[in-house]
Amino acid sequence: MYKYSDFNNKLSQGSGIGELMQDLGSGLEHARRMNLEISMLGGGNPAHIEDMEKIFRDRWKFLSDKETIINRTLGDYSSPQGFLEFREKLAHYLSRHLSYPLKASNIAITQGSQSAFFMLLNSFAGAFSKENTFKKILLPLVPEYIGYADQGIQDGIFTSLAPIVRSTAEHRFVYEINFPSLENCLENESIGAICLSRPTNPSGNLVPKDDMNRLLNIATKHKIPLIVDNAYGYPFPNITFLESKLDWKPGMIQVLSLSKLGLPGLRTGIVVAEEEITSRIAEMSSILNLAPGNVGCLFIEDWLENDQISEYSNNIIKPYYLQKSQFALELLDHHLQSNIEYSIHESHGALFLWLFFPNHRYTSRQMYEKLKARGVFVISGENFFPGLSTDFSHKKQCIRLTYSRNTEEVIRGIKILAEELSL
Ligand SMILES: Cc1ncc(COP(=O)(O)O)c(C=O)c1O
Repeated sequence: MYKYSDFNNKLSQGSGIGELMQDLGSGLEHARRMNLEISMLGGGNPAHIEDMEKIFRDRWKFLSDKETIINRTLGDYSSPQGFLEFREKLAHYLSRHLSYPLKASNIAITQGSQSAFFMLLNSFAGAFSKENTFKKILLPLVPEYIGYADQGIQDGIFTSLAPIVRSTAEHRFVYEINFPSLENCLENESIGAICLSRPTNPSGNLVPKDDMNRLLNIATKHKIPLIVDNAYGYPFPNITFLESKLDWKPGMIQVLSLSKLGLPGLRTGIVVAEEEITSRIAEMSSILNLAPGNVGCLFIEDWLENDQISEYSNNIIKPYYLQKSQFALELLDHHLQSNIEYSIHESHGALFLWLFFPNHRYTSRQMYEKLKARGVFVISGENFFPGLSTDFSHKKQCIRLTYSRNTEEVIRGIKILAEELSL
């Protein structure tokens, strides 16, 4: 039995996301052994979209014949910030789409966006010994992405705010940022950055552009950055069902990813930020990884100048998910309406539906267990509120389900969900 450092204990002694993945895995195994049919509505894997997979196969074949490209991409390390030539092409593309003259130096490539968040969150939260203070990341609207929760090298790096809940229609609601609480928090706590995903995993909320501008102004006033997680957002893969364009401006860190285009195996993340930040990301990357992987960059390089990547996003990926989302919503309304009190967050994007069951006799954890026993896997809502110290009923009465699985799985899963929750 070896002895382990605080660093190791912090990162290897069980995390929300780790337990979740483990529990899903063992639940799946159990269901298989019992010969139960399974509806895996829990994960965040992007769908296997046939039209996109054909495009990926063709691209793979094309690249495999290009000897010089392959030699450079597989045989050489890039710089820690990513290949300059690729970043130049990406900077041109992003300048057009984010309405700001970005340069290659405004971009850093990372091993997936998850690792970009590890670097960013720990750069702006934790101990600041020169200032003799401990700063936190402010999540302005929870529920928020579970993958941030355990990323702090130090404990307690998040503080978060419950949203305003606005009813939009029968059985529908939307979360909105509570700006007075936000201003109050910034006045009274030591905050190093504001961070949010847009669209939000898990709720599918798309914070409106005006609110994003307001957030940026507030962040700038407090001399802290606004980190925007675009894993599902604009300009690619643009799994958003409302106008989603967001300009880049100084003071903002936008984080993009190739994963939800359907390429999570390429592990490519993109940080768009002021040069002082991207150069620090590069320094950290060189310590953690020497250099990011090159294959993701090579894979999309030719889709930038001609905007092909936006066309794939807007003409194939977005419509695919929109149709799936609408289908799942109709099914839920059909099966739940008569006998269960429920409300669903408006589906503005990402891969998930966020269901609220007010006054239900089961907590979200119990709902998760009941469904798991029937081979239906969802995620219990309480995992998505890192840093929230106030009571908020949604914390214990919501579940997240992935609507993008195949039709039979979704139909079966939703039928069982309605049965179990109305029993
Ligand atoms: C909101 C959000 N941000 C970031 C990530 C990390 O994605 P990746 O590391 O694959 O780029 C995910 C993955 O599911 C996510 O849902």
